Amino acid sequence: MEKFDPVICECANITRSEIIDLIKKKKLSTVVEIADESDVAGMCGACIEKIENILNEVYTHLLL
Ligand code: FES
Repeated sequence: MEKFDPVICECANITRSEIIDLIKKKKLSTVVEIADESDVAGMCGACIEKIENILNEVYTHLLL
């Protein structure tokens, strides 16, 4: 668990570390896949860009 763990999707109340855990556990690589596995990005869509950034970070820095 990260010390600073901001809520990324306000609609579903899902935090950055929860999204990273999901990406790692299920080997997800797109926002659509993450949305299929959780409530993220299912409502207003304001979090989509933030989720794309997290995906880039995970794969660029090989946090897997
Ligand atoms: S903030 Fe994620 S769907 Fe609204």
